[in-house]
Amino acid sequence: MAEKGKERDFQAELKEEQDKLREHIKHTIMVISGKGGVGKSTVSANLAYALNSFGKDVGLVDADIHGPTIPKLLGMENVKLNSTPEGKILPAIVPPGLKVISMAFLVPDSDAPIIWRGPMKYNAIKQFLQDAQWGNIEYLIVDLPPGTGDESISIAQLTGADGSIIVTTPQSVALLNSRKAVGFAQKMSIPIIGIIENMSGFICPHCGERVDIFGEGGGERTAEEFGLPFLGRIPLDKKICDGGEAGRPMIIDNDNSDNIDIFKDLAEKVIKFYE
Ligand SMILES: Nc1ncnc2c1ncn2[C@@H]1O[C@H](COP(=O)(O)OP(=O)(O)OP(=O)(O)O)[C@@H](O)[C@H]1O
Ligand SMILES: [Mg+2]
Repeated sequence: MAEKGKERDFQAELKEEQDKLREHIKHTIMVISGKGGVGKSTVSANLAYALNSFGKDVGLVDADIHGPTIPKLLGMENVKLNSTPEGKILPAIVPPGLKVISMAFLVPDSDAPIIWRGPMKYNAIKQFLQDAQWGNIEYLIVDLPPGTGDESISIAQLTGADGSIIVTTPQSVALLNSRKAVGFAQKMSIPIIGIIENMSGFICPHCGERVDIFGEGGGERTAEEFGLPFLGRIPLDKKICDGGEAGRPMIIDNDNSDNIDIFKDLAEKVIKFYE
């Protein structure tokens, strides 16, 4: 009986938190994968830029507490967050107006491991979301750590996320895990915008031949299997990797590359999803 009461209190508290956030954050989109290293952070950063370049108010949260990479991808490694006189965190701003918060901005030594249990992570994420002065945000993109652990659950609960994008690579191990990501979103009642396949083939810069290093068409088949939209294929592209290394997502350079179109197309699909 007491347990049921506690559960009700927790749900009521969550609902209150979600309503508070929704007053100024219209849509929260979680970028998830069942497996590490498939390109969640790359997709999150480029999608956030693409939406911002369409004139949308966009926030980007790096919720990967143990391995935050957004600052590296955006060339913001030396950023420390400021706060307002009332103690609210001010997100860092990347031109033209992308608002970014990463755990890496809050820790003094980015090489030191963060050894936290679930409740500490929950509180850190809560702070990111609620104690930050986001202003009005239309799309909050959340870059998650791999898998479906604490951070994913906390974000889903605290924001009442109303969208998710599942990133996979074509090989069967990644696909197996992307099914888990689909299952997670469904269990948490988070609408799935669709599945995107990254590292999908490599075009040889010398001879132009396409090599499907990780296999072919798996992301599309998984999307079909679940009746979900397939959001496209991003090939392996040295410019994407170089952009990450240089702290300058490739989308900024707007140089007519096909992959820039893929991210813009993804942004358009996201906008349409909510229309
Ligand atoms: N399409 C691509 N072409 C070339 N390199 C890519 C591509 N996508 C991602 N990368 C590179 O692969 C590496 C891993 O990508 P990223 O950090 O985005 O993955 P992740 O899923 O966020 O990883 P983690 O699970 O560790 O958070 C990075 O060095 C990134 O620059
Ligand atoms: Mg990442």
